[in-house]
Amino acid sequence: MYRSSITAVVAAVIVGLPLEINGQQSGWDLNQVNATMCAWKGLRAAQLKDTAYLDGGFLYWSPGLADGNVGPPENDANPFGVIYTLNFSIPFSSTTNTSLILKPITASGVAVNNLMPNYYDGALLANDHEFTLYGGLLKNSEASTPPDADAVLTYQASDYGLVKDNFHPGFLNDKLPEGLTRYVTYGGAASAPSENKAWYFGGYRSPLWGPVYQPSINGSLNPTNVSNSFITLDLAVNQSKKWANDTLPPGTPSRANPSLVWVPVGGQGILVALGGVADPNYNNPSQKSLNEGQSRLVSPGYMTNIDVYDVASGKWYQQPTIDAPPQLAMGCAVVAPARDSSSYNIYYYGG
Ligand SMILES: *[C@@H]1O[C@H](CO)[C@@H](O)[C@H](O)[C@H]1NC(C)=O
Ligand SMILES: *[C@@H]1O[C@H](CO)[C@@H](O)[C@H](O)[C@H]1NC(C)=O
Ligand SMILES: *[C@@H]1O[C@H](CO)[C@@H](O)[C@H](O)[C@H]1NC(C)=O
Ligand SMILES: *[C@@H]1O[C@H](CO)[C@@H](O)[C@H](O)[C@H]1NC(C)=O
Ligand SMILES: *[C@@H]1O[C@H](CO)[C@@H](O)[C@H](O)[C@H]1NC(C)=O
Ligand SMILES: *[C@@H]1O[C@H](CO)[C@@H](O)[C@H](O)[C@H]1NC(C)=O
Ligand SMILES: *[C@@H]1O[C@H](CO)[C@@H](O)[C@H](O)[C@H]1NC(C)=O
Repeated sequence: MYRSSITAVVAAVIVGLPLEINGQQSGWDLNQVNATMCAWKGLRAAQLKDTAYLDGGFLYWSPGLADGNVGPPENDANPFGVIYTLNFSIPFSSTTNTSLILKPITASGVAVNNLMPNYYDGALLANDHEFTLYGGLLKNSEASTPPDADAVLTYQASDYGLVKDNFHPGFLNDKLPEGLTRYVTYGGAASAPSENKAWYFGGYRSPLWGPVYQPSINGSLNPTNVSNSFITLDLAVNQSKKWANDTLPPGTPSRANPSLVWVPVGGQGILVALGGVADPNYNNPSQKSLNEGQSRLVSPGYMTNIDVYDVASGKWYQQPTIDAPPQLAMGCAVVAPARDSSSYNIYYYGG
């Protein structure tokens, strides 16, 4: 649901966000009077109760200037690590003053540091109370030390389980267990708050499973190789997070940027993986697929044969579709139940 809302929001005009973020996330240009959000690539999002949290990626802004001109879109890499919230309880339309509905949270309004850099792609894995920032690509900058291979950040929005007095929303540093790193990107993510579970399906990694960065000329740091990891985060009530790293079975192909949705049928629901492509053109600096023939051969199959995971039994299945769309990656998929929950439709937009 939040994904289709975003399309309305990105067309809107931002005027006068609070001082620490201004219009562009680093501050306004000289003589600037407003800022328009134009595109948001590599965004990660999760919905906690009535509110969506929008993090990372490249957010492009066009500055409106006092002389009436509008500058070209710029992406300032979110130097203050702003995470935006969009509260669905607050009505909006495409002409709403976006400052009134997109509210930022930050660690403290301070510049991003090496513990909270801006990630492109990856996921927010959530239940109703908290989300963990997982995977994604950093910019390879010699100036800063990246977080450790096993470092992840969690934002706790509300308390649950062993309820503590004096709870305040905020960030926590977590560690991944042995055998699991954050070095994966372009996977499909889904969260099922009712089950206290979230998943990260497939995606890409570096050739040697080491650090991955936004594509550069150093091929050993690019996400050029498929990840067969299927990662489960169990956010059970007592807040001792449990990660699992399973390997996808041979009949369940990994790929780049499928859309993963959770559908509430069966014991603990099912995951449905739609679309995604093999060897995308965006995992290396040439902007060309490293294996276009293979990509064209196998990618349509990710729409004509849908991969389904039954959470309760831990088994993968495939289901053929009819009148499938062509190969698409980075689409927005949502589940809409019939009013009486007799059926579920999955809507897929864009890609
Ligand atoms: C939009 O909302 C912000 C924050 O409340 C406010 O400062 C600004 O003046 C508003 N802009 C317009 C054009 O109403
Ligand atoms: C934003 O600024 C541009 C350039 O001055 C102007 O054309 C446009 O009308 C402004 N938008 C709003 C909503 O004020
Ligand atoms: C969203 O807005 C509603 C209505 O104002 C409010 O009750 C709720 O607490 C808000 N949610 C968050 C996470 O701030
Ligand atoms: C999951 O485990 C496999 C096998 O040990 C390992 O090769 C892989 O790097 C792990 N995945 C992640 C994302 O860390
Ligand atoms: C590429 O990155 C690897 C891993 O950090 C490093 O060992 C290597 O020297 C780099 N190669 C170049 C050409 O910079
Ligand atoms: C990684 O992917 C590249 C490009 O497809 C391929 O040439 C290379 O053999 C792969 N490396 C490994 C270790 O799988
Ligand atoms: C958390 O719950 C699990 C399963 O119910 C239990 O085994 C574990 O001891 C609990 N941990 C804490 C810290 O309460």
